[in-house]
Amino acid sequence: MLELQWKSEAGSASNRVFLLDKVDPVWPDFLSEQEKAFALQQWENKSTLIHLNRYPEHLFLVFAEQMDDESKGLEQFRKLGNQSHGMWNKLALTDVSVTTSFFAPDYLLAFAEGVALSHYQFLKYFEKQEDKRFSLQQLVLVDARLSAAAVEELSNLVQAVFHARRLIDEPLSYLTAGKLAEEILDLSKQAGFRAEVFDKSRIEHEGFGGLLAVNRGSIDPPSFSVLEWKPENAMNSKPIVFVGKGIVYDTGGLSLKPTGNSMDYMKSDMSGAAAVIGLFYAAAKNKLPLHLIGLVPATDNRPGLNAYTPGDVIKMHSGLQVEVLNTDAEGRMILADALSYAKRYEPELVVDLATLTGAAVVAVGTEAIAAMRKAGDEAFYKLMKAGKHVYERLVEFPLWDEYGEQIKSEVADIKNVGGRDAGSITAGKFLEHFTAYPWIHLDIAGPAFLHKKDSYRGQGGIGVGTRLLYQFLKMY
Ligand code: BES
Ligand code: MN
Ligand code: ZN
Repeated sequence: MLELQWKSEAGSASNRVFLLDKVDPVWPDFLSEQEKAFALQQWENKSTLIHLNRYPEHLFLVFAEQMDDESKGLEQFRKLGNQSHGMWNKLALTDVSVTTSFFAPDYLLAFAEGVALSHYQFLKYFEKQEDKRFSLQQLVLVDARLSAAAVEELSNLVQAVFHARRLIDEPLSYLTAGKLAEEILDLSKQAGFRAEVFDKSRIEHEGFGGLLAVNRGSIDPPSFSVLEWKPENAMNSKPIVFVGKGIVYDTGGLSLKPTGNSMDYMKSDMSGAAAVIGLFYAAAKNKLPLHLIGLVPATDNRPGLNAYTPGDVIKMHSGLQVEVLNTDAEGRMILADALSYAKRYEPELVVDLATLTGAAVVAVGTEAIAAMRKAGDEAFYKLMKAGKHVYERLVEFPLWDEYGEQIKSEVADIKNVGGRDAGSITAGKFLEHFTAYPWIHLDIAGPAFLHKKDSYRGQGGIGVGTRLLYQFLKMY
């Protein structure tokens, strides 16, 4: 684990990083004449990362651009943090301290965030883990304008993202719906939030028809977890509820998916749940002054002998009857129950996160979250702003009435799939039937899981949503 530390003044740390202005750098005065000449030559050569080897010490000069757009500016520093992490690892460095006299402290934090997020590794299933482990152990932020608390907050948030990533990266052979609930209980104890898990009989008792229908093809029981963070100094009287899709594996059910490039990474279909779990970890660790509820319906979706079938009509928790025409549209079935259950909290706002549609991937790729909403502008714009800040950006899709036509059924209240067009929106329209409060739906199917490495986001489970929601709550 990488330890993040804060110091107000430089100590005798051996490896030092300086964040300098790319356009007009002020060279640190303790560079020798030769080092200055080398640095100047490298800088003229447009190098953004200069390494000065004073073995056993190493100095690094990192050049960044002053930008008008704060969002892009912060992202630039995260990416520089990632590049630096890679360079330090090649040099097998264990300790580095970083400082800047030119940039505002937020940018130093963003650099540290980029370094820290790059440190994630999922090595559980390798025999020789030690050989693969990144070398860095400690990063010291030297800046009198920062505080130990600010650095600690960042460290907790990064740990929260790592928990989310780890849960996504765990395959079904470990992470069943029951195991996911156990993980939630474990993390609730570690971080200090409350958690309660409904087992199958409680789920039956509550009448979660959608969750039970999807679970019918599985040999493992479903779970439904309720998370709560309620500090004494909560600023809101009505809670904010977060719902996360917890499909621990999506085969498509009887509407079976092809394996290659489709089913093979569907262990990531609980990324919405992972984001919510990560959020609660960060909120509790950092003691956010807000009352929050989290709901995580979970099961795998399989074509077992008793699997729900196209043509089935399912009575949902809300009482609405749904004609199932595609068992691969299972996410909306389990979310619907959690969304109607959320009503009992009389929430100020409900946000759901789900890897809901392939159509969202087609529309916005891995760069954006497809957002739909019934919430007012104030909350929604705040979330959009948070998205820019953490670089988990949102694109709004409309929930116009006309799209609702596609999910009208001949035999029941609604059906669970629309036509080929606007697939993410018809999924949103389906969920809307189960909401009776200000609501935002986030389809994270694109950015939840990456097939090749992308800077500090990494590869595999990204944990998208945790930093977004945490930032949103900080701004709330
Ligand atoms: N989990 C998938 C959506 C998905 C696809 C997530 C690709 C990440 C990457 C979801 O359950 C699903 O299968 N959706 C169907 C809906 C369709 C049957 C209406 C889809 O998008 O094909
Ligand atoms: Mn599916
Ligand atoms: Zn799914």
